[in-house]
Amino acid sequence: MDLLQLIESGGCSAKLPANELEKALSGLPKNTDKRLLVDIDTHDDAGVYQLTDEIALIQTTDFFPPVCSDPYDFGQVAAANALSDVYAMGGTPINALNIVMFPKKNLSLDILKEILAGGMDKVKESGAVITGGHTITDDVPKYGLAVTGTVHPDRIITNSNAKPGDVLILTKPLGTGVIIAAKKVGEANDALYQKAVTTMKTLNKKAAEIMQEFNVKSATDITGFGLLGHTLKLAEASKVSIRIDSGKVPVIDGVYDLVEAGCVSCVMRRNLEFVEGKAEFSGDLDNNLKMIMLDAITSGGILMAVDESLADKVLQKLHSSGMQDASIIGSVGKGLPRIAV
Ligand code: CO
Ligand code: CO
Ligand code: CO
Repeated sequence: MDLLQLIESGGCSAKLPANELEKALSGLPKNTDKRLLVDIDTHDDAGVYQLTDEIALIQTTDFFPPVCSDPYDFGQVAAANALSDVYAMGGTPINALNIVMFPKKNLSLDILKEILAGGMDKVKESGAVITGGHTITDDVPKYGLAVTGTVHPDRIITNSNAKPGDVLILTKPLGTGVIIAAKKVGEANDALYQKAVTTMKTLNKKAAEIMQEFNVKSATDITGFGLLGHTLKLAEASKVSIRIDSGKVPVIDGVYDLVEAGCVSCVMRRNLEFVEGKAEFSGDLDNNLKMIMLDAITSGGILMAVDESLADKVLQKLHSSGMQDASIIGSVGKGLPRIAV
């Protein structure tokens, strides 16, 4: 059973488009509770709620249709992705709840068992525990988790704290969305597909620990809105301009050729529409690379804004901790919240 054959769009590419979500949220009452340290206003990765002087809770949820063929892999990827929003806030996940949609017939319950086992193993690897969950019937299976983490209130890493002079580091290579789309239509070879699954399964745990070690204050993770969509959100929340050096953006080998061969999804075009009015693309920007930077990713890397004087040390530590593809990909400047590529 190949789970990818059950879906139209899987993983974070199944997200509601960013501008439509903004429309739905606009005009809803604001939350004024002082204990809510990070709310929905800055479109951050998770909400943060102060519990005591020393402890703030980070809360987040992500769930979606399958993003790979094998149910056990899907469970692991979905869990790594849901946990990532806690890591992007600089936190430590403590517990999680399963969110499950599964068809009443036509699909063996063994598949559900495998999905849940994958999720459980990944949550265990993070050091957190699964405390329960909720299941409803639905024609297309969906899986994810609601995750709670903790962080010291003074150590919260937000998307609204990037400062002019910071440099941007991305910890995982781009291209997993392209590979999965290609796999679905039989265009991706097995080695490439396995590379994508391994990349998505990798926790952002060490990246979060390294951010705390070096007192990084601003980050987000790259998911459904693509590198450029999430970079724009970081620029808007931090009220800064951001320049991306496209030649330095890490991309999985073989992805460029897939895009060159026509593997361009409607989600990429949708993400382009989202950034277009606030992005400046240089005349010599390679169009395939541009589309890769708009690719909807599931369980992507951390994009962090690091004080320039620390950037080389942070990068070295990321490399020596197994994130060989981590690269400095751009810089933060003053001015209106825009991105230039
Ligand atoms: Co996120
Ligand atoms: Co999320
Ligand atoms: Co964040």
